[in-house]
Amino acid sequence: MIATALRAHDAAPETLPLWQPADRPAKEPPPRARQPESAATGGLAVTVRDLSKAFDGHTVIENLDLHIPAGQFVAVVGRSGCGKSTLLRLILGLEQPSSGRVVLESEAVRAPPKRIMFQEPRLLPWANVADNVAVGLGETGTKAERRARALSALSEVGLADKAWVWPATLSGGQRQRVALARALVSRPGLLALDEPLGALDALTRIGMQAMIEEIWRSQGFTALLVTHDVSEAVAMADRILVVEDGRVALDVKVEVPRPRRRGDPILAALEGRILDHLLKTHAPA
Ligand SMILES: Nc1ncnc2c1ncn2[C@@H]1O[C@H](COP(=O)(O)OP(=O)(O)O)[C@@H](O)[C@H]1O
Ligand SMILES: [Mg+2]
Repeated sequence: MIATALRAHDAAPETLPLWQPADRPAKEPPPRARQPESAATGGLAVTVRDLSKAFDGHTVIENLDLHIPAGQFVAVVGRSGCGKSTLLRLILGLEQPSSGRVVLESEAVRAPPKRIMFQEPRLLPWANVADNVAVGLGETGTKAERRARALSALSEVGLADKAWVWPATLSGGQRQRVALARALVSRPGLLALDEPLGALDALTRIGMQAMIEEIWRSQGFTALLVTHDVSEAVAMADRILVVEDGRVALDVKVEVPRPRRRGDPILAALEGRILDHLLKTHAPA
């Protein structure tokens, strides 16, 4: 097992990260696993130990401990400003901890990369869709290899026919699918999603949730989804973390088999329980 402690030079510039720089030399993508159980070997396990982060003396994350097994789908919910994005950025190495540490482990000989996707697709307007996806490969591969991998990632998100168009001609949902393809093209072991569907209409959002879940099941990366939508969290995740005052206030497993049915009473009850927790802890004194 390879343990990769995040170091200062792993951090990407604050403004840019359309993608994370590749951590390791390029390699052929692993064969696609068909079963979620076997796919889990492709993911990065995340261990967070006594992690704290303060900005200008204001503590945002405080003595947080967490272990995420490889391949797990974890959703992070909590009120606005509670530190969800900060936690994600610390785990991805985009932010340095004030104290404590984050360790990413892989069973692969070469640890797979980690990627993040945001609410805004952050596409390059002057590059066609395929070239935007190839950006996720960094500098690796020949032009032909990069193109082939970009096309393969685009077909995974159902946009193979849009490879040669400009981003400006796409709908909001299609742009987010291009951003997803860019995040997936390097076959990440950890995919962080920071409210990736927040700007989409309800139906597009449900379609994207199903697509992300399906790709996660086939590829086996570890998924870390920040969302303000508790129904999205219970529909998609194996486990939900409620973050409050810089700590994990609630850590619940979602033991409903997949594919999950919208309106499932167990999911509805769980959603209610989490919402109650969030509302109770924020009721006026
Ligand atoms: N780079 C930064 N500099 C100063 N304060 C920050 C920075 N990033 C986040 N914060 C502060 O940390 C707190 C948590 O922010 P964030 O993690 O973005 O919350 P969330 O994603 O849960 O809405 C907020 O009070 C925010 O203002
Ligand atoms: Mg945020």
